Amino acid sequence: MTPVRLLDQDRPALTLQVDGAPIAAKQGDTLLTAILTAGLHHLRTSEFGDGHRAGFCLMGACQDCWIVVEGRGVQRACTTLAEPGMRVTRR
Ligand code: FES
Repeated sequence: MTPVRLLDQDRPALTLQVDGAPIAAKQGDTLLTAILTAGLHHLRTSEFGDGHRAGFCLMGACQDCWIVVEGRGVQRACTTLAEPGMRVTRR
């Protein structure tokens, strides 16, 4: 199921790239919010072989949401704000 944005519909829109494809987001979205509301259902594949991961704590504590941001390296998707033109790679 894709999360639906219920609030803050009027924040300015921005576009970033995830795995080379553009997605729409809102200013102030974290990368996790942007990716999940765009209909991409995971951030990475678990290194323990138990499937796809899409974050756990959503507050920067569990390190379950690592994602690669071009020019910045590995970042937490739940605490990194989406920026226009940002290039992100899921792992
Ligand atoms: S979801 Fe836990 S650190 Fe991001």
